[in-house]
Amino acid sequence: MHIEYFSDDLAMSERACDLILQQIEENPQTSLCPATGNTPLKTYQLLAQKLLEKPTELRLLMLDEWYGLDKTQEGSCYAFLQKYLVEPLQIPNERFFIYDSQTSSPEEACLRMQLRLKQEGPIDLMILGIGLNGHLGFNEPNDFLSPACHVAELEEQTKQHTMIGELSIKPTKGLTLGMGEILQAKKIILLINGAHKKEITKAFLKGEISTHLPASFLWLHPNVTCLIEANAL
Ligand code: GLP
Repeated sequence: MHIEYFSDDLAMSERACDLILQQIEENPQTSLCPATGNTPLKTYQLLAQKLLEKPTELRLLMLDEWYGLDKTQEGSCYAFLQKYLVEPLQIPNERFFIYDSQTSSPEEACLRMQLRLKQEGPIDLMILGIGLNGHLGFNEPNDFLSPACHVAELEEQTKQHTMIGELSIKPTKGLTLGMGEILQAKKIILLINGAHKKEITKAFLKGEISTHLPASFLWLHPNVTCLIEANAL
């Protein structure tokens, strides 16, 4: 794993943005799987600024989504990506692959995403954040992890995420790509920032692989760049 350290969030986000731009230059039709949440926010804002005037051929595939949330509702991963990437980068619907988050059969929604991924091929670039409990997407710590896109039971801590902080009824499940699909991505950028991530960063940096710290499986991937902001150390 290639690890780089940064003095602040802006410096980390500028580096992440440059790496994404480099990837798009190499392959304009890059399939990008972007995490949502606070961690990559600045990176996406910088990317949107840089690409605003330039039409892109990017394809976006969602990493995860809260189950049961209306996709247009504030707090959904869909709404986040619409606001920070899809609209500014003018990515058409046919190149934005999303979850059906309100279906009565979330398992079928996950099967459709699995199929979509098979059709699209492995993701070219994945942008990940690490959860406070070490999750990736909604791959929560457990005795076992699932390789393919699945419905996940969310941990209490995950339900407290600021994205859904305003909701009176919290989602209890999430739809997420599985660990196998994440690890099949050609390149992965893992971003870690914020003082609240100190503990999990320390555990992650030990490089010990455990299903109880799903992000630790990234140590097995041949092309991961991990960008860490000083406050997280
Ligand atoms: C959320 C999302 C993940 C995200 C992670 C970290 O629950 N499901 O995709 O990467 O937790 O969020 P944050 O960046 O806000 O710390």
